[in-house]
Amino acid sequence: MRKKLLVGTGMALSLLLSPFSQSFAEQPTVGERKQVSNVAHRGATAYTPENTIAAFDLAVDMKADYIEIDVQRSKDGELVLIHDTTVDRTTDGTGKVGDLTLEQLRSLDAGSWKGEQFAGEPIPTFQEILDHYHGKIGILIELKAPELYPGIEEQVAAALIERNLHKPQNEKIIIQSFNFESIKKMDQLLPKVPIGVLTSNRADTTLEALQEFSTYADWFNPSYGIVTEELVNQVHSLGMQIGSWTVRSQEAADFLFEMGVDAIISDYPDYVDPRN
Ligand code: G3P
Ligand code: CA
Repeated sequence: MRKKLLVGTGMALSLLLSPFSQSFAEQPTVGERKQVSNVAHRGATAYTPENTIAAFDLAVDMKADYIEIDVQRSKDGELVLIHDTTVDRTTDGTGKVGDLTLEQLRSLDAGSWKGEQFAGEPIPTFQEILDHYHGKIGILIELKAPELYPGIEEQVAAALIERNLHKPQNEKIIIQSFNFESIKKMDQLLPKVPIGVLTSNRADTTLEALQEFSTYADWFNPSYGIVTEELVNQVHSLGMQIGSWTVRSQEAADFLFEMGVDAIISDYPDYVDPRN
C-alpha cells in the first residue's frame, strides 16, 4: 500500500524512463479503460443535500466506491459532517459550526434547501457515518478547516481506532485536507491510514513540493483545472496516487479519464461509472 519513500529527482526521472515505469503503468482496467475509483463528493450531491444520509445512501445505491465527507466540530466537542464553516448555506439556521452545540446542530434542517422531499434531514455525526457506512462503501474523510478545531486530529484518530479502522487491511479509509500540517499529524497518529494532500494551487505541483508531500502522503488530490498528464506521471513516479475534483460534467470526467488519474471526485457518480 503506501510508499513513505522520499524519492529523489534523479530516481523520479529514471523511474519515468525505466522498464519499471511500464509495469507501474499496468493497472487494473474496466474494458479498455483504466479502473478509476468513483468518489461521491459529499455524497451524490447533484441529486441530494450534501453531507447527509440521503446523499450517502444514494452514493451506495449508485455503486460509488467512496463517499467523501467534510468533518468539523461542534461547540461541545462532537464531530459533525458539514462543508461550510457556518450553517447558513445548507441549513435553516445561522452561525458558525463551532459556536453551536451538537443539540443545536442536530435540530437544524439540512435537507430542505435542496428540495422539500429532503425536509428534516439532519446534520450527521462522524461516528454515526463510520458505523453505518464502513464495509458498505469507502470513506474519504476531509478534515475541513482543522485549524479552527485544535485537537481534531486526535479525535478523528480515536474514532477510527475505536472501530479498528486504522489497520492496514482497511484500505477504504483515506484522510485528506488542504491543511498540510494537519494531515502530517494525522500520518503520525495513524501511520497505516492513507493520507491525501488537497490543493488547487499550481505552486504545490512542482517536483520539489511533490517530493515533500510524498514523505507523508499516499494521495495527491488537485482540482481538475491544474491536472496535466505530466503531473499524473510525476505523482505516480513518486509512489503516490492522484484523485481529482470536483467533476460536475461528463466532459470533465472524460478529461480526467484521459489524464490517467486514479480517482475522480464528483457530484455525479453516474459520470464516473464504467457501466455508463
Ligand atoms: O474531495 C475534494 C473536495 O472535497 C475539496 O473541496 O471545497 O468540496 O471540500 P471542497
Ligand atoms: Ca470536501
